[in-house]
Amino acid sequence: MIHYDEKNQIFQIHTKNTSYVIGLADGAYPGHIYYGRKMEDARCGFLMRTEEAPFTPAVCKREKASFADTFSTEYSTWGVGDFRESCLDVRTAEGQRGCELRYQSHRILDEKPQLPGLPSLFAGKSKAQTLELLCTDEVIGLEVVLRYSVFEDSDAIIRSVSVKNKSEKPLALERVLSACLDMDQNGFEMISLHGAWARERGIVRRPVAYGKQSIGSVRGESSHQENPFLALVTPGTNQEMGEVYAMNFVYSGNFLAQAELSQFDRVRMVMGIHPQGFAWHLAPGECFDAPEVVCMYSAEGLGKMTREFHDLYRNHLIRSRYTHQKRPVLINNWEATYFNFNEEKLVAIAKEAAKCGIEMLVMDDGWFGKRNSDNSSLGDWTVDKAKLPNGLHSLVEKVKDCGLKFGIWMEPEMISPDSELYRAHPDWALHLNEREGTQGREQFVLDLSRKEVVDGIYEQISAVIRSADISYVKWDMNRQLTDVGNAVLAPERQGEIYHRYMLGVYEMQERLCHDFPDLLLENCSGGGARFDAGMLYYSPQIWCSDDMDPVERLSIQEGTALVYPLSTMGAHVCDCPNHTTGRTTPFQTRGEVALSGTFGYELDITKIAEEERAQIPGQIAAYHKYNELVREGDYYRIASFRENGVYDCWMSTSKDKKEALVTFVQVFAKPNQKSFHIRLQGLDPNAEYRLEGTENVYSGSLLMYAGILIPREMGDFKSRLLHFNRVC
Ligand code: GLA
Repeated sequence: MIHYDEKNQIFQIHTKNTSYVIGLADGAYPGHIYYGRKMEDARCGFLMRTEEAPFTPAVCKREKASFADTFSTEYSTWGVGDFRESCLDVRTAEGQRGCELRYQSHRILDEKPQLPGLPSLFAGKSKAQTLELLCTDEVIGLEVVLRYSVFEDSDAIIRSVSVKNKSEKPLALERVLSACLDMDQNGFEMISLHGAWARERGIVRRPVAYGKQSIGSVRGESSHQENPFLALVTPGTNQEMGEVYAMNFVYSGNFLAQAELSQFDRVRMVMGIHPQGFAWHLAPGECFDAPEVVCMYSAEGLGKMTREFHDLYRNHLIRSRYTHQKRPVLINNWEATYFNFNEEKLVAIAKEAAKCGIEMLVMDDGWFGKRNSDNSSLGDWTVDKAKLPNGLHSLVEKVKDCGLKFGIWMEPEMISPDSELYRAHPDWALHLNEREGTQGREQFVLDLSRKEVVDGIYEQISAVIRSADISYVKWDMNRQLTDVGNAVLAPERQGEIYHRYMLGVYEMQERLCHDFPDLLLENCSGGGARFDAGMLYYSPQIWCSDDMDPVERLSIQEGTALVYPLSTMGAHVCDCPNHTTGRTTPFQTRGEVALSGTFGYELDITKIAEEERAQIPGQIAAYHKYNELVREGDYYRIASFRENGVYDCWMSTSKDKKEALVTFVQVFAKPNQKSFHIRLQGLDPNAEYRLEGTENVYSGSLLMYAGILIPREMGDFKSRLLHFNRVC
């Protein structure tokens, strides 16, 4: 998969369908030559344009500035002539900034190394190889390893960067991004996932214009607003056609993702930890590891990119033993009761849920301290005896007696000013000296950059999990980071807190996974503010959004599924009118949209209308029937309500192409609308498929190339499932 052609000084990285080629200009500067369809010819060094003006430093030193400003580098540095976006910016003990990396040596490893303390892709059952380019700046004593890993069964290239101080003096890292991709190409459009609370990850597309266009987060989490995903696509790219260059960050904190079109019509795409608020003090001998970026190229449109990401994450990122298992159908009491519940109420919900086939009760926010609204008790992870007088163990046993498993909500990263914890340890909250803390949802953020805070909170939450038979934890994080400082770290290390905070979160979740291997963990952040590849390393599912309105969910789930597998998308059936939009939709539609995620209910099952409750057993039967297809299958986007304003359609096809499930939603009943014409994807053209519930048999080629008609219905928000089984 990875070769070094010594004669041409060319590194070739091959995946199933793609190639990535690196050269060494003057034998010293790692330059980007090619990324795209598989191409095995190593005689491509001329593409570095080292023969063209302004020539290379070896030929003509006086032109070095213009060389640096045009050269397609593998990793850009600040201070010696590359005026485009820098990935690395280093300040010396004397306060000077400038860095130039020269190739020293390389290694090709037959493995994929893990990054210490960080989420990191793994080889699993596949073969892996890694290219490590060791580069140095001898003047300041810096060593940089550029890493590129590939798996035999994937088109992904996983990049990361480690920076080591080999000098006798400290160095300050002002920024360390994780990946740089310079392309000698113009005309790209960029696709990102934009949103807000309750409308996360909408797909946004815009032309790449001259200058820089970036997305990012400086909120201390990957955020509702932008997701750490960026794709550059050739014009006209759709699901099935066009070239796609995508990057996805395996990180859950601040990030920057940017496309920059330069004076010579070249594009530089970068991704990494956002430099705003970041600084890292690198003492002699210390090393900094920048998180991984997954690079994905597809010559077959966005659909191929999506399916490659889904397979990659299901096989090489998510470690949970639930990844490839059907998750229990849960009922969560948040929208059913909010803070107003007690043991009796929860047991009543569990009893009714059991009758319908629901398999787990999740007790959401409000069970601890004295939390009757969101203004207190975060940090006091002990049961509120007013609500649960017999304690947690007794409640869990009662729920289990109903035949359900038990899950619990926690928000381990937070502290309420009104809490025993805050009264005992006010310094455990992130804070700036002398400055009054900024509250968000009446809470502060715990300083998880500190070991004693991580240990103290972990001790509390693990004690809760040990105290009863708890099968599931919903790990929430309901505000963004402000006042990012503490009185513990030295002044020159204060810029490390954002990243150290993330390392603290990762450490806690790592310990949770290690100590409770059977626990099903679902990450969450005020809905879907931390839906990223970093969290998927610890939890096989993430709460997608607090918005469960199935119409809103169409674009939320479409955007999420552009990158992340359906098996990871937390999706529940809500009550109506919906709590975020006030919209009323058919129970069937709520169920059929949620079926494309992890599936569960978030309503008061003891109070909903009988005709709705009566539909639950059927919905759960559908979940059991289709979940494997949805969870393990190939996802194809057929039509988008976002684009056509009327209907939405997607499908999952099993890997062996023996069955397929199509979900169709007529969002609006347009007057005088004829039947909808859709063309399926991912089937075997030569096979025959029967549409379940009918005698109709169609060839795969008919279904895919000619298509089928779906009758228009009267009324808005109507969904239907079409299940095709291969008959020969
Ligand atoms: C967040 C979550 C919700 C719920 C509340 C509880 O908003 O996304 O699902 O758990 O917190 O406070």
